[in-house]
Amino acid sequence: MHVLGIETSCDETGIAIYTDNGLLTHQLYSQATTHAAYGGVVPELASRDHIRKLAPMVRTMLAEQNLGAAQIDGIAYTAGPGLAGALLVGAAFARSLAWAWNKPAIGVHHMEGHLLAPLLEAEAPDFPFIALLVSGGHTQLMQVADIGRYTLLGESVDDAAGEAFDKTAKLLGLGYPGGPALAELATRGDPHRFRFPRPMTDRPGLDMSFSGLKTAAVTTWRSQPEDLSPEADAQLRADIARAFEDAVVDTLWIKCCRALQQTNCKRLVLSGGVSANQRLRQAVTGYMASRGGQAFYPRPEFCTDNGAMIAHAGWHRLSAGEHTPLHFPVRPRWPMEELVPGSA
Ligand code: KG4
Ligand code: ZN
Repeated sequence: MHVLGIETSCDETGIAIYTDNGLLTHQLYSQATTHAAYGGVVPELASRDHIRKLAPMVRTMLAEQNLGAAQIDGIAYTAGPGLAGALLVGAAFARSLAWAWNKPAIGVHHMEGHLLAPLLEAEAPDFPFIALLVSGGHTQLMQVADIGRYTLLGESVDDAAGEAFDKTAKLLGLGYPGGPALAELATRGDPHRFRFPRPMTDRPGLDMSFSGLKTAAVTTWRSQPEDLSPEADAQLRADIARAFEDAVVDTLWIKCCRALQQTNCKRLVLSGGVSANQRLRQAVTGYMASRGGQAFYPRPEFCTDNGAMIAHAGWHRLSAGEHTPLHFPVRPRWPMEELVPGSA
């Protein structure tokens, strides 16, 4: 079976073909430069750019692979969560193609795409596992018994970790998207100059909070003299970036440790954009090795949004005999726990 996957939930147009033998090909177009001038994603511009890019990208991919409608067995698209307009572009395109080609279509949950992305790698986790989903819109700890069998253990009660990275990066005068830029700046920061809190780690439970860390960064910034030399100012920004990153990383892995202990599980999966963060990966890998467990991640390009994870999740669901009826709307908000295993 060949599944064409289409991702348009935010500011990347991602397409891919996943087959019974694994991932055949994938392509990504990032709109980052379009939105950079505005300091964040402008939904209307995102939708328009998806419209411009999708058809030519799919046409080129099929031609390059020497594939036509006859060889595509199903079409997977991101049905939510995400920006309503951007989702609608991908859904309308995918559904039209499926209708014209007389193929089944499947609306994929974007976070299920992220959650299963580590299965795209040669070293893939077996079920069950604990998943930390950390992206720009979500920070959730999930107990994963199998595909479609997800139990939410804890989540951020305010900002997602990626959102906190982006907002703090903006404060420090870094461009959009802020996460990678802040992480890069933090490499030059002194880890001992400032210490930010590890929110909600002093009480039991698996919920998290990141908006206070952004406030800690603002407060620290404002408490410094305004007439710093350019060098001192640059060092101050780097030291704040480091204190912020250390606090997010510590908080995330403290919560991961708790989830693993609570469920007596030895496999941890990290995915979503923030799982590309090197310091987080190092902290988690070290801890998992020390307790005889194992950590799994997608390769960095599949941590952030991409078409491969949608084609892959769609392939699982279509293989299980599922398909999405034509009248299914997109779901800008869509709790992952509403998902159920495939019906075959
Ligand atoms: O999964 P993703 O591409 O999109 C959503 O579904 O939200 O995640 C994007 C988020 C952004 O907030 C971005 O700043 C963050 O992931 N991010 C990072 C890194 N790379 C991307 N945050 C920290 N360190 C990174 N290296
Ligand atoms: Zn995402």
